[in-house]
Amino acid sequence: MSNTKIGLGLAALGRPDYINVRSNISTDKSVGTFKKNAFKVLDKSYELGIRDFDVAPSYGLGEEFLLEWNNTRHYKDVNLSTKFGYTYVANWEIGFEGKHEVKEHSLSKLNEQWEISKALLPKLKIYQIHSATLDSGVLNNIDVLSRLNELKQEHGLKIGITSSGTEQVKIIKEASKVNFNGEDLFDSYQATFNIFEQSCFAILQQLLSKDKTIIIKEALANGRVFTNSQFKNYNVIYNYLETLATKYKVGIDAIALRFVFDHLEPTLILSGASNTEHLKQNLNALNFKLLPEEITNLKGFAVLPKHYWLERSNLAWN
Ligand SMILES: NC(=O)c1ccc[n+]([C@@H]2O[C@H](COP(=O)([O-])OP(=O)(O)OC[C@H]3O[C@@H](n4cnc5c(N)ncnc54)[C@H](OP(=O)(O)O)[C@@H]3O)[C@@H](O)[C@H]2O)c1
Repeated sequence: MSNTKIGLGLAALGRPDYINVRSNISTDKSVGTFKKNAFKVLDKSYELGIRDFDVAPSYGLGEEFLLEWNNTRHYKDVNLSTKFGYTYVANWEIGFEGKHEVKEHSLSKLNEQWEISKALLPKLKIYQIHSATLDSGVLNNIDVLSRLNELKQEHGLKIGITSSGTEQVKIIKEASKVNFNGEDLFDSYQATFNIFEQSCFAILQQLLSKDKTIIIKEALANGRVFTNSQFKNYNVIYNYLETLATKYKVGIDAIALRFVFDHLEPTLILSGASNTEHLKQNLNALNFKLLPEEITNLKGFAVLPKHYWLERSNLAWN
């Protein structure tokens, strides 16, 4: 079996709306109910062996929940990661119209968000630029990069980027060139990789061979891997995934996650489960291995990044 671990991402746990394809949406979206659920999922994760937790200031109250959970549980062996660059602006308004999070990759935003996120130290191990892009100029912003390098030296953090969109490969390549005194600034890359979107495979493999930390997000394509009449374009894939799920006696989520384990073998794959049931089903991915010909078949299901990301941009917040 590979050394890849499953971590928990808090994107769906700290705010009432998120862009996932969801089957059962809780009608009670109060802060109290969300907090209770977040703690339940965090506790269950730890009990089931998860030690890596990923959050961001834009995940509503996600950072606050994770901080309180961490401070009250006192586990010695957890690793936390957070990000800077997006601000949550939906203010817990259910059905908020417009953008729920606003991007700003400036030095002042970095300093402002670091002032809050630093409370996660010393369990905070990875600090990331949230959705680095080429057009935001963040990978050339010497003030931001120098400040990140300062935080790296001062706190022994790994500095990372997260990437999304059709230009993931270019963004990752650009980030990998940033160095201070000959030492790479970025030690960690969080990217989208799944059955439909496999464009980062080669660059992530290369970075793994250089001992970089590779974290995979959206391994379930925001829920699009589950059979869904809205996405008839994936019918052939859905049929094949169901065949494998029946064969291995697991859910489609475990097959999709296992594909990432067996094909890429990243450092960490984030589960985005918003409840303990989905979490347990996701963790079934740890208990079997796909055959080489099954991996080959799944590799063949990749779609063009421009199609994948267009479809993702049309997903509704719910
Ligand atoms: N730019 C960035 O930095 C960025 C962007 C996206 C994500 N992330 C990180 O990656 C983490 C994971 O990504 P994600 O949550 O967006 O995507 P994901 O893992 O691809 O998708 C999660 C979706 O799958 C559903 N699901 C999971 N297990 C299921 C099951 N057994 N049965 C039915 N549905 C199931 C979830 O439903 P439920 O909600 O109902 O459980 C949710 O709709 C996030 O929490 C975050 O930490 C980072």
